[in-house]
Amino acid sequence: MDRILIDGGEEILVGRGLPSPLLPPSDRLRVLVVTQPGARQVAEAVAERVDIPTVEIFELPDREAAKDLDTVEAIYRRLLEGGFSRRDTIVGVGGGTVTDVAGFVAATWLRGIEVVHVPTTLLAAVDAAIGGKTGVNFQGKNLVGAFWHPSRVVIDLDVLSRLPRDLLREGSAEAVKAGLVGDPLLVDAYRRRGLDADLEVVVPRAVAVKARVVSADFREAGRRAVLNYGHTVGHALETVTGLAHGYAVAVGMTAAAEIARRRHGYDGDDQRRLLQGMGLPVDVDDAGVDAGAEAVLEAMSRDKKRDVDGIRFVLLRDVGDPTVEHVTPDDVDAALEAVGVR
Ligand SMILES: NC(=O)c1ccc[n+]([C@@H]2O[C@H](COP(=O)([O-])OP(=O)(O)OC[C@H]3O[C@@H](n4cnc5c(N)ncnc54)[C@H](O)[C@@H]3O)[C@@H](O)[C@H]2O)c1
Ligand SMILES: [Zn+2]
Repeated sequence: MDRILIDGGEEILVGRGLPSPLLPPSDRLRVLVVTQPGARQVAEAVAERVDIPTVEIFELPDREAAKDLDTVEAIYRRLLEGGFSRRDTIVGVGGGTVTDVAGFVAATWLRGIEVVHVPTTLLAAVDAAIGGKTGVNFQGKNLVGAFWHPSRVVIDLDVLSRLPRDLLREGSAEAVKAGLVGDPLLVDAYRRRGLDADLEVVVPRAVAVKARVVSADFREAGRRAVLNYGHTVGHALETVTGLAHGYAVAVGMTAAAEIARRRHGYDGDDQRRLLQGMGLPVDVDDAGVDAGAEAVLEAMSRDKKRDVDGIRFVLLRDVGDPTVEHVTPDDVDAALEAVGVR
C-alpha cells in the first residue's frame, strides 16, 4: 500500500483491498459506519473487518439531498441511543456526500470524535475525503461546516476499478485537475490512455498533490486555492444549470485556460484535447446544458472566491505551474465565450 501523510492531519493508505487492521489502534468500544445506497456492499465489508463487538451501519438517503442538517440530526440521535463517547469512531464509507456528512458529525459530536474515511467514488478518493474539510448544505451549498481531519483514509483501488463509467469520468475531472496544477506525470497518464489511465498511477499521484497543498496551507489562506482550478466558472455553471460537479469543473478549466492563454501564453488547445480524450465536456454544448452569460456572471459574483478587488482565478502558466490572479471583466467575457456561454 502507498502511504501518504498530511502534516498535522491524516494518513492516507492507497492500495488494493482493505488493510488489516482497518482502523488505527485505539481503545474505542463502538463504531458507526455511515454510508449510502451505492456503497452499501463496501460498508458491510468494512463493518465485518472492524474488530470490536459494537459496529452499526447508518445508511443515508442517496446523493446530495442527504447532505443536510436533518440527516446530521438523525445521526446524532443514533449516536446518543448507541451511547457513543469521545473514545468511539465514525467511519464514512461512500462518495463525497457521505464523507462530508460523516466528517461534520464527527467534528461536532461531543466537540469532536475520531473519523476514518473509506471513499468509494473517485471524486471522494482524490478530493472530498482528504484534507479535513467537512460540511452540509443549509440554504446554500456547504454553508455549515468545520475543519476536522480524519485519522485515516483508506482508498481501495479494487472498489474504484469497478465504478460505473460515468462516476469514473466525473471523478477523473478532479484527478486531472490535481495533475494540471501540480503533477505533469499524472497528466501524461491521462494523455496516453484517456479514462483508462491506470488508477494505481493517477490516484496516489492526485492524492499526493492535494496532500502537499493542504499540508502547506490547511485553512485555505493562500496555496490551497490552487485546488480550485476550474471552479470559479465551474461552480457558477453548476449553480445555474445543475450540471454535475466534475463536468462543470472540466468546462471551468477550459474557461480558465482561455484567460491563461491571453495572459501567459498557456496552451489551452492542448488542455482541450486532453479533456476531450477523457470524454469530458469542454463547453456547455458538449455538456448538454444551456447557460446565459448574465446568470453565470451573477452566480460568479456571489462566489467565495470573490474579494474586494474582484474575482480571482487560478491560472496556469504551464502544466504544474499555477498562479492565483485577479482578472478583468474583459478576461471573464473571453473565458465565458470560449466555453459557449453568451
Ligand atoms: N470536503 C471537500 O473537500 C469536498 C471536495 C470535493 C467535493 N466534496 C463534496 O462531495 C460531494 C460529491 O461527492 P460524489 O461525487 O462522490 O457524490 P455522492 O457521494 O453523492 O455519490 C454519487 C453516487 O455514487 C454512488 N456510489 C458511491 N459509491 C459507489 C460505488 N463504489 N459504486 C457505484 N456507485 C457508488 C452513490 O450512491 C451516489 O448515488 C459533494 O457534496 C461535494 O460538495 C467535498
Ligand atoms: Zn471540485
